Amino acid sequence: MYLVSTRQMLLDAQKHGYAVPAFNIHNLETVQAVIEVANEMKSPIILAATPGTIKYAGREYLQDILEVAAKNSKIPVSFHLDHHEEFDDIKRSIDIGCKSVMIDASKHSFKDNIRLVKQVVDYAHRFDVTVEAELGKLVGQEDNIVVSEKSSELTDPKLAREFVYKTEIDSLAVAIGTAHGLYKSEPKLDYERLTAINNEVNVPLVLHGASGVPTESVKKCIRLGICKVNIATELKIPFANAIKEYFKDHPDASDPRKYLIPAKEAMKEIVREKIIMCGSNDRG
Ligand code: 13P
Repeated sequence: MYLVSTRQMLLDAQKHGYAVPAFNIHNLETVQAVIEVANEMKSPIILAATPGTIKYAGREYLQDILEVAAKNSKIPVSFHLDHHEEFDDIKRSIDIGCKSVMIDASKHSFKDNIRLVKQVVDYAHRFDVTVEAELGKLVGQEDNIVVSEKSSELTDPKLAREFVYKTEIDSLAVAIGTAHGLYKSEPKLDYERLTAINNEVNVPLVLHGASGVPTESVKKCIRLGICKVNIATELKIPFANAIKEYFKDHPDASDPRKYLIPAKEAMKEIVREKIIMCGSNDRG
């Protein structure tokens, strides 16, 4: 297959009441871990990269790695830009074949959020690229975007309707009480708000900050309209821990082809769990 946008995937998820997991990847090994499990479980899959990841791994390198991953897969694979804030960065990726992007202008006023998102939509839709945008502000840190508890903001359902209508986005990231990164205590999710948002807008809804959210809570969100579930932190930690463990047992090791194997395996375990949680297995 070739890399696809997230349009068909998310509409199918919306129609059939499951979600497509979006895993943040950083390099060849993390791409392989996600892709191998997605193929094994026949799950459509989204691999996401923040601006920090693009800077670290290289825009063309990542695009090409993902194209090879899709070509060797029997499932729909989408490479998605996560939390991008700059039109020019997004344009650069679209120009080399990226099919799915998020413009995060949520730190701006409602009016400016609409303006900045619309600029991306107008460009992206010319190339059949799907656009996700965020209304509300999630607490925590993702890359260089830091939102304190005080400045966090839940999504207003009525404004969500206007936002989707005016921007013509393909999917909407909502703030309903999840956070980026780890939680100090179990998050309190605002299911009523999610229901209200889902009643106001037709586009598939996206849950950011799913790491550490109990499985049953994520499943409930999926029943209430979430079609894409973003997971980053919960993959990074076991990957790093497995490397630390490896070096405890092999303090003189230096071969990445050896110490990255347990890291990949640890990550694959979580990918499996999350695909089951999303109900996306056998949907690819
Ligand atoms: P977590 O790191 O909390 O899983 O958040 C991931 C995310 O929302 C990426 O956009």
